[in-house]
Amino acid sequence: MSETFPPAPSMRPRQKGFKGWIAARKFKILTAILKRLLKSWPVVKLGKTVFVTRYDDVRAVLGDDVRFNVRYADQLKIATGEPLFLLGENDPDRLAGDIEALRSVMRPEDVPGLGADAAGRGAALLEKAGGRIELVDAYFREATFGLFEDYLGIAGNAELRRAATRMFEFVFYDADEQLKAAAPDFAKQIGTATEAAMAAPPEGSVLARCRAAQQDGDKRFTDDFIRSMIGGMYIGGPPQPVIVLAQAMDVLLSRPQALEGAQAAARQGTTEELYGYMLEAMRFQPLAPALLRVAARGAVVARGTWHEHAVAEGSTVIAGVAAAMFDPRRVAEPDRFDPKRPYNTYLHYGFGAHECFARHLNAQLLPGLLRPLLSQPNLRRAPRKAGKMQVNGPFPETFWVQFD
Ligand code: HEM
Repeated sequence: MSETFPPAPSMRPRQKGFKGWIAARKFKILTAILKRLLKSWPVVKLGKTVFVTRYDDVRAVLGDDVRFNVRYADQLKIATGEPLFLLGENDPDRLAGDIEALRSVMRPEDVPGLGADAAGRGAALLEKAGGRIELVDAYFREATFGLFEDYLGIAGNAELRRAATRMFEFVFYDADEQLKAAAPDFAKQIGTATEAAMAAPPEGSVLARCRAAQQDGDKRFTDDFIRSMIGGMYIGGPPQPVIVLAQAMDVLLSRPQALEGAQAAARQGTTEELYGYMLEAMRFQPLAPALLRVAARGAVVARGTWHEHAVAEGSTVIAGVAAAMFDPRRVAEPDRFDPKRPYNTYLHYGFGAHECFARHLNAQLLPGLLRPLLSQPNLRRAPRKAGKMQVNGPFPETFWVQFD
């Protein structure tokens, strides 16, 4: 009798034909182009678009948030309203103030507990999986969204998770007309769920802390601020581990030696050792090829080098993080899988003022979910198509594995 492996629930309509084929490969193609440029033409200007690929130049762009602005504000206005969520904010003082406020309710001391929580959720899901599990939805999405919903204090369900995932795409990717039309409705769903949670936040949750700060007279925590920031965290947060963990498993399962090392680290290693495998696997399949910025004024990229270029105000700057992590000037033997690279090799979380708010949390969460999975005996891809990671547009959708 042949076993069936049903596809995971789809988060987005699937494009058919050539369009679908391109959508599934767009990021891989752009990454390959950026890596090619890195070798011979490290900065390329095409009209008002500038591609930057070397490690030092990419960091210099991302590190200069005054000249090179984030450009998510228009989408974030629709997603979570005003005041703008962190990634829409280009005023350095307001950004720093908002980050400080959020750190008072999403606290560094929460991180170890959240890592343990992730591992516990992962182990429980595997326990009842019966020797096979669909990674994208049934493992990574279930555990990650579950964890964030409990932590933030939002009552989640499949519909709300889908709304967050679609809004993540709307804000940070190139949304098509259909998604643009649907975005206000998805935003409303998240706004309504956030407001309901604000009215009666579960004890100990981030929203309960926001309410307590408000009651203590902390003027930063207005209703609008709480709704925008916590809604933004729900949109900008949990969709990402789902993507990068599935992709990292795809990398590991394609590299027997790396997989063996990662499994040993999962069974006996420290969190840091295991995280080294995650970060390195992500280098081979990163979240995105590039981060985009807009030049707020005339500027120069790669200043003082032979490939220095002037950038006109209003230009789009494509900071090619995926290529930069393969720059041999800064990354020794870049094509080798090495889980012990220095941490600053990686640009997965961006760099500078907007560097990922959750990077320390991710350092616990990601290995927390990998540890129970990689510890399973004889972990392997499911047979045939089910065991090949299926993507829908730029996102993993279905990916089955088996274990004994
Ligand atoms: C694990 C996978 C994740 C990756 C690869 C990732 C990556 C990134 C990147 C690249 C940026 C900078 C974007 C830019 O400069 O244009 C960023 C910012 C941010 N991330 Fe993450 N992230 C992850 C998970 C999370 C999670 C789980 C949260 C939720 C709490 C989160 C919250 C944020 C926030 C709030 C910012 C904006 C920070 C600011 O503007 O100051 N991220 N992330």
